[in-house]
Amino acid sequence: MLGKIVFVTNNRHKLEEVSAILAGIYEVVSLEQIGCTDDIEETAHTLEGNALIKAKYIYDRYGIDCFADDTGLEVEALDNAPGVYSARYAGEEKSAENNMNLLLRNLEGVTNRNARFRTVICAILHGKELFFEGVVDGKILYEPVGNGGFGYDPIFMPDGYNLSFAELNMADKNKISHRGRAVEAFCSYLKM
Ligand code: IMP
Repeated sequence: MLGKIVFVTNNRHKLEEVSAILAGIYEVVSLEQIGCTDDIEETAHTLEGNALIKAKYIYDRYGIDCFADDTGLEVEALDNAPGVYSARYAGEEKSAENNMNLLLRNLEGVTNRNARFRTVICAILHGKELFFEGVVDGKILYEPVGNGGFGYDPIFMPDGYNLSFAELNMADKNKISHRGRAVEAFCSYLKM
């Protein structure tokens, strides 16, 4: 066990997913657990840039090893939109439902449904900045399916499956998901 590491997030789903993968290596703590309630502005125009902003913010103020992730849904027929703007695709209220509806509207009549989730993790360990990436390829469905997960999960079907991300249980999603793969890359580095 390497001790505690801060995952720079307030998203309960993500914390659960990632803690399960890093169990036995790190005790993963959230922003809330270190008493940080600041809203960290993600002003970069790339996933790498935003992950770095978030990790650096915590490392500079708290001096604790930490990591942050940033994810985008990249839709081929939309020139990789919404990408880095996935959370606020339909506006600043960051509504998952509105985001999905807007994406489905923008893909009306479009037969190329290819898309991928891409996650970038920036970890800062003893002051050293490290980057890891994870990708999952799939298709955008024509309507939402399933009740699990969050964000765009009900309209994303990973390649090789007949289920949306919202129909997979957490363990199965972790095995193949963008974030799961990025965290696995981070784990492999830690085990080197
Ligand atoms: P974040 O950088 O992880 O906050 O992700 C940005 C946005 O991408 C989120 O607000 C969600 O809309 C979407 N997103 C990220 N990860 C997932 C996922 O695992 N499933 C579905 N949507 C996701």
